[in-house]
Amino acid sequence: MMQLGVFGNPVEHSRSPEIHQAFAAQVNLEIDYQKILVPLGEFNKIADGFFAQGGLGFNITVPFKSEAFDYCSHHSKEAELAGAVNTVIKNDNGFIEGHNTDGLGLVKDITKNLQWILKNKRILILGAGGAVQGIIGSLLLERPTHIHIYNRTLSKAKALVDSFSSEKVLAIEENQLESDYDVIISGTSAGLDGNAGDSLPAYIVGASTRAYDLIYSTRPTPFLRWAQNSGASECVDGLGMLVEQAAFAFEIWTNKQVVTSDVIKNLRDC
Ligand code: ATR
Repeated sequence: MMQLGVFGNPVEHSRSPEIHQAFAAQVNLEIDYQKILVPLGEFNKIADGFFAQGGLGFNITVPFKSEAFDYCSHHSKEAELAGAVNTVIKNDNGFIEGHNTDGLGLVKDITKNLQWILKNKRILILGAGGAVQGIIGSLLLERPTHIHIYNRTLSKAKALVDSFSSEKVLAIEENQLESDYDVIISGTSAGLDGNAGDSLPAYIVGASTRAYDLIYSTRPTPFLRWAQNSGASECVDGLGMLVEQAAFAFEIWTNKQVVTSDVIKNLRDC
């Protein structure tokens, strides 16, 4: 049986096992997909042990995505751009390959599931941490007019932008925020109890602005509540992205494509 898993700390909350088991059932595969709690500082040791016991590959969640990047000898272009890995596979030659499907998953959710257009649109991203770094490359491929990065700490936004060398990605200060962005994506770790929206001017949201939070949750995040109150036309959390990034990972391991719509719906319902 294919041995898979998700490495994280914490990892108990992860919904990846149920998502991958749903995919496996869809294509009549039996998989063993475990949550693996990795003590800080022990990523390499646990990964070595996983492969020594016949594991095929695993996902990586907080806080190990850059350690996973360093662990891999080969990287996909998305992983290279993000400097982070969320999916690992030991390939037929025994090499450890690192992929990053987060940006692919986000863009698939936005453009296919939600049918939002990104081409020639003005995008604002809030936050400049690892989660944001993982999505910019894939967003750029959709050819937006520009991507503004607005972060509490400007220097971090500037450093992130410098790593992309694209004139379409700009770190901005509050007085450079535009009105009526087409799409605003929150990638801060402010979380469910955070204050992500408190310091944002309402004019950045117009009647056709769409808001997306990379976090998924059973109740609206503070950012989505704020966007809704400011008049955004659609407000969506990251559940679709979670399932779509998993589908890309599943394909890397199994070479099989899956249908995601029912999996997203079932997760939403429970
Ligand atoms: P992740 O891997 O989840 O992206 P991270 O790399 O620690 O985590 O990045 C967290 C991001 O959320 C950062 O951009 C952080 O802002 P700073 O760079 O100023 O630290 C942002 N963030 C965290 N809490 C926030 C809050 N309460 N309000 C606004 N931004 C916040």
